[in-house]
Amino acid sequence: MEIQKELKLPCGVTLPNRLGKSAMSENMAIPGHAPGIEFVNLYKTWARGGTGICISGNVMIDSRHLGEANNVVIEKGIKNHEGLKSWAKAQENSSMHIWLQLNHPGKQTPKFLTKEPVSPSAVPLVPPLDRMFNTPRELSEEEILDIIERFGYAAKVAKDCGFKGVQIHGAHGYLVSQFFSPHHNQRNDKWGGSLENRMRFAVEVYKSMRAAVGPEFPIGIKMNSADFSKGGFSHEDAVGVAKSLSELGIDLIEISGGSYEKPVMTGASVKESTKKREAYFLEYAKDIKAVISCPLMVTGGFRTAEFMNEALKNDELDLVGLGRPLCINPNFSKQLLNGEDVVSEVRPLSSGVKILDKIFPLEIIWYSHQIQLMGKGKAPKPNSGVYGTIFRSAIDTGLQSIRRVRA
Ligand SMILES: Cc1cc2nc3c(=O)[nH]c(=O)nc-3n(C[C@H](O)[C@H](O)[C@H](O)COP(=O)(O)O)c2cc1C
Repeated sequence: MEIQKELKLPCGVTLPNRLGKSAMSENMAIPGHAPGIEFVNLYKTWARGGTGICISGNVMIDSRHLGEANNVVIEKGIKNHEGLKSWAKAQENSSMHIWLQLNHPGKQTPKFLTKEPVSPSAVPLVPPLDRMFNTPRELSEEEILDIIERFGYAAKVAKDCGFKGVQIHGAHGYLVSQFFSPHHNQRNDKWGGSLENRMRFAVEVYKSMRAAVGPEFPIGIKMNSADFSKGGFSHEDAVGVAKSLSELGIDLIEISGGSYEKPVMTGASVKESTKKREAYFLEYAKDIKAVISCPLMVTGGFRTAEFMNEALKNDELDLVGLGRPLCINPNFSKQLLNGEDVVSEVRPLSSGVKILDKIFPLEIIWYSHQIQLMGKGKAPKPNSGVYGTIFRSAIDTGLQSIRRVRA
């Protein structure tokens, strides 16, 4: 079976099979932005599940700019390296490679977390998101250079603490992706304008990380196949970025799509014709695969072994990215690799009340809850309803904003 085959990366590292866990935010750091025992429990569970590469949820590189209240942060001065080392040890006695996904949220940080978000330009998120997220301030050149250095520092810490690779989060509307987008990046200096300028930030982040970890340590990027929003990062842009990063020596490109403004990454609001097909970003893979020499991972919607093997056999991609299936069944990869006739039971979630579905990103909060159950050493509850999650999320958000106001 294609999914059982090893995969060699340009840096020389070999992944044990073609199944990858895509990044999913754990949002469960303990005080001090540190990963606690929950991270060890969770990643040991996934390590037992047979997935070849397991990319962590987004780890932030600046504690002043979080995506969620309980993100892990790697930054100079934060003493959480013992926690990071214990987390990395979760991969011991398994063939799984844990990579850390490194991120800066830019403007996608809620008001109660960041009063003054930053972005390439002072462009707010579209209504109604502008009510929950403050208008960002334009980054200065000095700040851009500082962020680039922070990515390099975080990559070095990841390597020193025992992780087997790092991934730049360049997708889903966060800072790297804001630089890519002509809508969010309206700068007139060398960081904006032409595609070459808009991708300069990602290129410099990559170079800073490569200089910090050396040539033999894997570095990847997750990027959008397109933003799917008017005036945003187009598919042609994505092809250009992928080509440049591949030429620079990046080890793995993962494609996804969308942003908070256009949340198509979990399949919501993609075209009906696309939805019917498994793997809703696969149709964008062909153009990207044609211009890169590094492996391509595609994430979003893969549910059956038959489809995964077929896509790999047709050389449409090199690595299958799995998100939600591994939240409700951490052994899904093992079952697929063993040739069991298993189909992921990921199903569309809805509260039945449109406004609630709009306010609460159910696809994220319900699956986060499953992740957190595994962190507590419990089994996921694939049949649990959505109302408990909505209730918990409302309480958590309320408490977090009260804490922030008081802090
Ligand atoms: C709970 C949850 C958290 C997520 N957090 C992240 C994240 O931190 N970084 C990221 O790149 N994508 C994140 N995603 C998106 C997933 O990596 C993936 O792209 C998406 O779930 C589609 O894949 P799937 O259909 O296999 O679930 C998250 C998705 C979920 C459900």
